[in-house]
Amino acid sequence: RIAGPSGLVIFGVTGDLSRKKLMPAVYDLANRGLLPPGFSLVGFARRDWADEDFAAVVHDAVKQHARTPFREEVWQQLAKGMRFVPGEFHDDQAFDTLRKTIEDLDKVQGTGGNFAFYLSVPPKFFPNVVEQLKKHGLADPPEGAWRRAVIEKPFGHDLASAQELNRIVHGVFQPNEVFRIDHYLGKETVQNILALRFANTMFEPIWNRSYVDHVQITMAEDIGIGGRAGYYDGIGSARDVIQNHLLQLLALTAMEEPGSFDADALVAEKIKVLGAVKIPDDLGRHTVRGQYTHGWQGGEEVIGYLEEEGIDPASTTDTYAAVKLEVTTRRWAGVPFYLRTGKRLGRRVTEIAVVFQRAPYLPFDSYATEELGENALVIRVQPDEGVTVRFGSKVPGTAMEVRDVTMDFAYGESFTESSPEAYERLILDVLLGDANLFPRTQEVELSWKILDPIEDYWEKHGKPARYQSGTWGPAEADEMLARDGRSWRRP
Ligand code: BG6
Repeated sequence: RIAGPSGLVIFGVTGDLSRKKLMPAVYDLANRGLLPPGFSLVGFARRDWADEDFAAVVHDAVKQHARTPFREEVWQQLAKGMRFVPGEFHDDQAFDTLRKTIEDLDKVQGTGGNFAFYLSVPPKFFPNVVEQLKKHGLADPPEGAWRRAVIEKPFGHDLASAQELNRIVHGVFQPNEVFRIDHYLGKETVQNILALRFANTMFEPIWNRSYVDHVQITMAEDIGIGGRAGYYDGIGSARDVIQNHLLQLLALTAMEEPGSFDADALVAEKIKVLGAVKIPDDLGRHTVRGQYTHGWQGGEEVIGYLEEEGIDPASTTDTYAAVKLEVTTRRWAGVPFYLRTGKRLGRRVTEIAVVFQRAPYLPFDSYATEELGENALVIRVQPDEGVTVRFGSKVPGTAMEVRDVTMDFAYGESFTESSPEAYERLILDVLLGDANLFPRTQEVELSWKILDPIEDYWEKHGKPARYQSGTWGPAEADEMLARDGRSWRRP
């Protein structure tokens, strides 16, 4: 899988995402030999830079953030195709310059007219950029070539804004030319969910309501909002990651086996799951949102959300959210899916825990088994990638005592191959036109349909609960599960 002649234009190239993820990913792809020799990278932003200045910025970003070692010859080759176009999004002249730059690259670098436009810009600029691409003929490929739009999240703020955004984007690009990034789908461990389920025989027979008690999907972060106040405040954790990453994890965990592994078949199954998700009637009892306060993290004192630079001291934005959902299909009806996410939690960990029902009775002494937990299969998405199975085992000795033990698969131990960074995989797929790992319009809209009533409820009902930085979230979230007779896992 090596990309053919092509180039990538990044809008918003001076942003954090571009420096930390996109530029290093392009270099790593080149370093792994997955890009064509004439691959070109064009930056577009409101800076007074020449091509050399842009190349110097990319160079720094690569040195700091690339996964693979720096090799001068790879860099030199890549640098030949780097161009910078200064301009604002409403600036017609700048878009004309962009068109000429691309035409020129076709000649000197042999890009064949094939370009992807990566919109790494705040959503309010999406319509502007997309319309400029159309107006300046950039969205129409020359004969035999392709043009693609890559859109970073968030895809809207709610269902209505997402629909409007989709309308605008599809007014310019065909559905198969639009690639929406959900970088969780680019993660190896996330792709492995389907391999685990459908390449094996031992999990699927018990992957249903007859054996599963509940599912917990956790995405915990230790970081706060850092320098992202402008993006985060008013958005909050549920819109930031539940609407996309966590609901995608739910879809992959709960979906039926697709007829094949192509994008249409996958999407069809994911859509069925998302369409079957039901939110609880009593949102006050089955959802919790929280906001971090001052505390300690990794031995360091950290400030609360309301003290962060750029945050409205009266902000009610959630930095933690927990929701109980149900998937009303024959396989899952009645099985709760608990989703939670938060910033400034105990540690960084993302996992999916499928928790099985307890044995109907235990023919052992009760004193020896009362601590026994449920069987669980935990897909460790990050950072310690792998899978854990938890079950009870006899404790060596003369008594029949049973205790929980775990059996682990760790990527680092089982594979010598290294995992590509999510963005590497996704950028390569865009260049190859492979849409498997990109959510489609309908998935995005269904996800908003799930979240909108929850957000509405929160807006009308009080403020987020407070939780101390460095803890595992508000006490209300523990109470939410305790009411169901369950508890959150401590990863
Ligand atoms: C992004 C969110 O999509 O995912 C961020 O906007 C979050 O708020 C990030 O920090 C986490 O990504 P990862 O890959 O580090 O888990």
